[in-house]
Amino acid sequence: MTVDILPTGFDLTDPDVNLAGVPHEQFALLRKAAPIHWVEQADNARAGMHTDAGTGYWAVTRHEDISEVSKNSKVFSSQVNGAIIRLPETATRESLEMTQVVVLNQDAPVHTALRSIIARGFTPRAIGALDEVLEEQARRIVTEAAAAGSGDFVDQVASQFPLEVIGDMLGIPAEDRQKIFDWTNQMTGAEDEDMAREDNDPEAAAAEVLMYSMGLAAERKANPRDDIVTKLVQSGEDGGRGLTDDEFGFFVITLAVAGNETTRNATTHGMKAFFDNPDQWDLWVRERPATMIDEVIRWATPVTSFQRTALEDIELGGVQIKAGQRVGLFYASANYDEEVFDDAFTFDITRENNPHLAFGGRGAHYCIGANLARSEIKLIFDALADIAPNIRPTGDVARLRSGWLNGIKSLPVAYNA
Ligand code: HEM
Repeated sequence: MTVDILPTGFDLTDPDVNLAGVPHEQFALLRKAAPIHWVEQADNARAGMHTDAGTGYWAVTRHEDISEVSKNSKVFSSQVNGAIIRLPETATRESLEMTQVVVLNQDAPVHTALRSIIARGFTPRAIGALDEVLEEQARRIVTEAAAAGSGDFVDQVASQFPLEVIGDMLGIPAEDRQKIFDWTNQMTGAEDEDMAREDNDPEAAAAEVLMYSMGLAAERKANPRDDIVTKLVQSGEDGGRGLTDDEFGFFVITLAVAGNETTRNATTHGMKAFFDNPDQWDLWVRERPATMIDEVIRWATPVTSFQRTALEDIELGGVQIKAGQRVGLFYASANYDEEVFDDAFTFDITRENNPHLAFGGRGAHYCIGANLARSEIKLIFDALADIAPNIRPTGDVARLRSGWLNGIKSLPVAYNA
């Protein structure tokens, strides 16, 4: 039996719905009355996501059920229809299949093999080696922004830092970093007219990043260095193979998308939450509790949802899911689930029990950059508290139009007022 919980035609991944803010009211109703709920979806037809299994998806909104699906990648595939629930209107089956070259959209055994090579770039040693450089970057970025007196926090701080981090990780020369940044905005901001270029062609942008990165891989093979790119493209210490030039190119695309916008939006939502809760900002400036990091990430939940496709009939939370049906994992709902979080709608940087799912459930696809992202959040808010403790908002935020990113495009601030 389906319950009429959502207005007819209401799609939780509709970019216009999300432009107004995360649909928390609908999520709360669903968690209570219909935690696994069928949602019809009008789009995606060109990408072939509409099959005999139905033209919609099961919206999974409770923390417990999302964790269960994430852990069961044998039955719940990331590959069949990719991880994004609602693709831009321009997507086709061909473009969807192209995305299966990135780990996010793969299943075992291909996923396991590729992820184990990529993991070389994310060992505590590899990330630790970056820490000192990252601290300097964070302080330089905030110092330069504060020197300007006022401006847009997203442009000056939140988007700059992750870009520099990925640039440092991959050894991309300073003069090429902005280019990568512009291309990335093309790929993830395709549904927002401010972010897309006039010719609005995300596939062309992806092709450009790919060409650039393949060149980088070839260069490191010819001139190895003691850096992450070299570790990825050469054979591993365990004798395992390195990434091919193509695979490396898609790895850079994955990082440019997965590691950029996510941390950017966690930082911006964190700053906004501090503005809305000045007592929490005072507390951070004074005491720097480490629990701040995961509270900012929970609060922001930059990726509101990803999906899986059932490979066989399976029961989930008392609901029968049929083979071929899509299942939407709404992390933005799970992270405010009242069964798991006390006072979920209170931003509390001393929250101890914080098993949020912003990095996905603890399954095969759990965010490989989670610890790097945590480091970035700590370093940037440390720099802000040290250099611009009197930062304050001077206008309203503008939200990003996207069906799966909880994005903020601009946040006007004064740094030292
Ligand atoms: C996967 C969120 C930062 C690289 C994921 C997933 C989520 C996520 C939800 C997918 C999980 C799934 O499908 O089950 C976030 C958030 C971040 C963040 C909220 C920041 C606050 C980063 C950073 C990097 C990164 C900094 C790298 C520089 C990746 C990669 C995957 C991934 C490569 C794919 C892993 C796989 O499919 O095996 N992330 N991420 N992420 N993330 Fe992150």
